Amino acid sequence: MAVRLGDVAPDFTADTTQGTVNFHEWKGNGWAILFSHPKDFTPVCTTELGAAAALKGEFEKRNCKMIGLSVDGVESHVRWEGDIKDVTGHQVNFPMIGDPEKKVADLYDMVHPNANDTQTVRSVFIIGPDNKVKLTLTYPASTGRNFMELLRVLDSLQLTAKYSVSTPADWKQGEDVIIVPAVSDADAKTKFPKGFETKKPYLRVTPQPDR
Ligand code: BEZ
Repeated sequence: MAVRLGDVAPDFTADTTQGTVNFHEWKGNGWAILFSHPKDFTPVCTTELGAAAALKGEFEKRNCKMIGLSVDGVESHVRWEGDIKDVTGHQVNFPMIGDPEKKVADLYDMVHPNANDTQTVRSVFIIGPDNKVKLTLTYPASTGRNFMELLRVLDSLQLTAKYSVSTPADWKQGEDVIIVPAVSDADAKTKFPKGFETKKPYLRVTPQPDR
């Protein structure tokens, strides 16, 4: 069954390149990003894993653990990681789930049979401290993901979890944010002491509160 926003992320125990992982236990009270790759030793996936490894420090700064999955076994992942280092210069520095029986892939609905009935698509799940799914994203096998965009989304999710704000199109750290419509103007004056601009009655912007 599909895993949707607000659902509790299904728990699982799986073999990974860093030993057996019980997902909820491993995640703890922080954030996690879980992403799937169609297959080992494939070109786009190789570049993606190098890009993801390069950004691990940035995810860590945001208290977010990374974990990848491909429907091959752990021994294959370990051999593939040598190629990833050769090609991208980055050692994969987070656990990669071995899922040859597609147990985790099925749990998270990562196999889309009308796209490919044996491989996973490129799924992403960002999971919050409450173990609930905050973001889902699905790309086809032919399109590599942008891990900087995933960091940007994480920044937005973490900001909106803390303040009564949303983030506009293309928002980046440090830019103005939107006050949610449920906050009255009177309350906005106290909640957002830096002030706000009313562009339309339903669109009020304020400087990023934690900056
Ligand atoms: C790739 O990573 O390049 C890829 C994987 C599976 C199918 C097509 C492309």
